[in-house]
Amino acid sequence: MADVSATDDRASGALVTGGARGIGRAIAERLARRGDVVFIADVDGTAAEATAAALRSAGLDVRGLELDVADAASVAVAVERIDDEEPLGTVVNNAGIGFVTPLVDITPEQFDTLMGVNLRGVFLVLQAAAKRMIPRGHGAIVNLASTSSFTASTTPMVPYDTSKGAVRMLTIAAARELAATGVRVNAVAPGTVNTDLTRSLSDDPDALDQLAATHIPVGRLGRPEEIAAAVDFLSSDDASYVTGHVLVVDGGWLT
Ligand SMILES: NC(=O)c1ccc[n+]([C@@H]2O[C@H](COP(=O)([O-])OP(=O)(O)OC[C@H]3O[C@@H](n4cnc5c(N)ncnc54)[C@H](O)[C@@H]3O)[C@@H](O)[C@H]2O)c1
Repeated sequence: MADVSATDDRASGALVTGGARGIGRAIAERLARRGDVVFIADVDGTAAEATAAALRSAGLDVRGLELDVADAASVAVAVERIDDEEPLGTVVNNAGIGFVTPLVDITPEQFDTLMGVNLRGVFLVLQAAAKRMIPRGHGAIVNLASTSSFTASTTPMVPYDTSKGAVRMLTIAAARELAATGVRVNAVAPGTVNTDLTRSLSDDPDALDQLAATHIPVGRLGRPEEIAAAVDFLSSDDASYVTGHVLVVDGGWLT
């Protein structure tokens, strides 16, 4: 019987949005080490190129470019250009922002800006990638959700939590619609990971240690590499029968 479980012709291009630092950088490195040609697309184009250069100096094929995922026209052009250069087998919607502000003080502009990156940006990149992947009959898209997709943050982050809840449903709905095309859509939901984003949310240097002690059963923050490992799995052929799944990687936070 023919083996229809694996895709021998898996495209080796990988796009990681927001890959200049933090979780995205670890994902870019992990995918490059498995042999993908990785494109880091970040609103901070200088940092994207610097990270790509650092990874290239380690012998990896990584390219950097400037991209604001909330800008529909730029996303469409960038995804087409990247896919022409190296057909995309993997797309990771990692770019995200967050801020801590009481609900009653949030401006409409702040709300729209956050949703523009965290939700609209994921939709735009996913849609542009799907247009290229569907005709090839395969592709893996992985979105960065959060434990905030399931439960409210311990600090006032209503727009962020709302965006991550929506990313979870965007993942599930897109996965169902695209399942028959061979394009898989999954998400990874990190708990609290030690990155610039996490450190920017508090002025108290001890706050993260206290959070780990009180809320994270394993007693420590997550490492970007631990999130990258989950993205690697979901975007690999080992996950060929996995779609519409949200893989929680949180040190037991949600237990
Ligand atoms: N750090 C955590 O604890 C944690 C937990 C759950 C989920 N997440 C999610 O993981 C993802 C990465 O988080 P992180 O902690 O590494 O963040 P980070 O702030 O360290 O890095 C985010 C990167 O995204 C880029 N970016 C921001 N806006 C962009 C835009 N409009 N277009 C393109 N790039 C943009 C930034 O320049 C930066 O390089 C985010 O989606 C975040 O919500 C993080």
